[in-house]
Amino acid sequence: MTRIFINYRRQDSEGYVGRLYDHLAQHFETQDIFMDVDSIPPGADFVETLEKAIAGCDVLIAMIGPQWVDIKDERGERRLDQWNDFVRIEIGSALKQKKVVIPVLVGRARMPTPTELPEDLLLFARRNALELTQQHFAQDVQKLVKVIQDAAPTKQNNKPRANQEMLDQKEAALKQVRLDLVGATESPLYKFRIENRLFPVIGEGSADANIIFIGESPGKNEAEVGRPFIGPSGEILAEMLKSINLKRDDVYVTNIVLDRPPTKREPTLEEIAFYEPFVDRIIDVIQPAVIATLGRFAMQYILKRLDLPEKRQTIGELHGKLIKTRMHYGEIHIVPLYHPAVVLYSASQKVTLQKDFEKLKLFI
Ligand code: URA
Repeated sequence: MTRIFINYRRQDSEGYVGRLYDHLAQHFETQDIFMDVDSIPPGADFVETLEKAIAGCDVLIAMIGPQWVDIKDERGERRLDQWNDFVRIEIGSALKQKKVVIPVLVGRARMPTPTELPEDLLLFARRNALELTQQHFAQDVQKLVKVIQDAAPTKQNNKPRANQEMLDQKEAALKQVRLDLVGATESPLYKFRIENRLFPVIGEGSADANIIFIGESPGKNEAEVGRPFIGPSGEILAEMLKSINLKRDDVYVTNIVLDRPPTKREPTLEEIAFYEPFVDRIIDVIQPAVIATLGRFAMQYILKRLDLPEKRQTIGELHGKLIKTRMHYGEIHIVPLYHPAVVLYSASQKVTLQKDFEKLKLFI
């Protein structure tokens, strides 16, 4: 499903908005088309409320009528210059959140120039506009529908959410994995853990996450407190998640090796094999719709584990791809990503990582 927010000024484009809504409703679910933020409770921060509403959408359609730039309030002040103007806040928020913003011209309006816009909307002037004409309304809307579908591809079906009872069961099952891991004296890394007073790192996040991230192995920072990705790589991961409006609590983050190996070396085959049943159990409990692997070790592990045809390909070939397959509980996508640490070694990789993370938006 693609969620669409229609931003408009009543005095400027009201006649067109209803008509556009009716046409869009033939192509999208009506519950996915939003025109107004209906209720802002007393005492609520309305800017925050609008930002949240925009965050829940994929596309913002900004209706621009002939008066859009100049409309003034009863005191003669231009609406667009006011900090609390809904139209300005919504478009500004969509630009800030990197949503797809499509200006739609109606009533022979023209696109505003940068000099006519407040600073927070300057980027808006660079968006290519689409015109809806009276004569060819239906055809023009068809073009808009195509633009929306291309810009925000249909969301993948996410798994049904667990109810409270199931969630409690999942949390209890993860607790048991943790206990078994704590007592895993036969692990090749157990001695190192105990001698250095370290903790195993099972993972953290939502026990019912739609997306699970699997990295390599905990580092020193992580093993000292028993939490994954809290050091420099964790900061990059947090930044990437934030860029697609995800919080750590929304996803589950773990590794293929659940204890810290001595020194910063790569995990051995023996270590990977030892933790495999634990990782499988974690996946089995969470039953994610997406496994996003961080780095080549996690990618190879998952592709081989599921015996996928891509198992001999490199991360250079597969990063950012969506690999569809099935687990016993249903359809799943594997999304290979570079390890966040690549950015620490090569800042230019950040753009690639960021672009690949964008693919996950299909599952949010
Ligand atoms: N790198 C990983 O692969 N995992 C962590 O938890 C931290 C750094």
